[in-house]
Amino acid sequence: MNTSSTTRVAAVGDIHIKETDKGKWAGMFSDLAAKADVLLICGDITDTGKKEEAEVVLNELKSCSIPVVGVLGNHDHQSGQPEEVAEILRKGMHVLDGDSVIIGSVGFAGVKGFSGGFDRYRMPAYGEEINKVFVQEVINEADKLDRALLQLEEQDTDIKKVAVLHYAPVEETIIGEPVRIFSFLGSSYLKDPLEKRNVEVAFHGHAHAGTLKGITPKGIPVYNVSVPVLLNNGFKIPFYLMDI
Ligand SMILES: [Fe+2]
Ligand SMILES: [Fe+2]
Repeated sequence: MNTSSTTRVAAVGDIHIKETDKGKWAGMFSDLAAKADVLLICGDITDTGKKEEAEVVLNELKSCSIPVVGVLGNHDHQSGQPEEVAEILRKGMHVLDGDSVIIGSVGFAGVKGFSGGFDRYRMPAYGEEINKVFVQEVINEADKLDRALLQLEEQDTDIKKVAVLHYAPVEETIIGEPVRIFSFLGSSYLKDPLEKRNVEVAFHGHAHAGTLKGITPKGIPVYNVSVPVLLNNGFKIPFYLMDI
């Protein structure tokens, strides 16, 4: 365990654990204790959002002796039972959904996020009711993230804040994906609370063919830690390590 005032974070997204993945992650989770103080899992924890897959995740996490913090991804919603999946996962990790947890010197706030597009091309909540509902979803997720970050500030005004997301808050970290699907990979609505609350760093997944590093216009670092992105960047084991 790190005894300094920094906390070493290991971050990964899109582990997509299937029922046949028993034992696939346990060794890597077990080895993390020597490298990090906390593990972040940025959504798509299960492959299709089945309770059986969540049970496999829970079993793999038994090998992980450091605290684990994560958010659900769209795949964790696929079977229409995200609450049940989260309930199983919460037996072995913190699953954040508009709330926060403090570990070591760092406060973690998390939401899944949603689609909506970026910057001048982000969709407005305008026109047809179904379009308003679609865009309102990401606005609600951004509001939840803002409140979770505020909750951390209210507990400790000097705490270092880290955002855990599934969808991307900036376009830079989805570059590599087809441009035509950019709007479905995240939204700059999610970037606003990162800058407003001055987070140290944000981690996300979802864009499997995206780019590892990005930055918001006001200089907040953003990392896409999706497993394929890390492997494509030469990581031998799929965890991005950072001292915070
Ligand atoms: Fe994914
Ligand atoms: Fe995803």
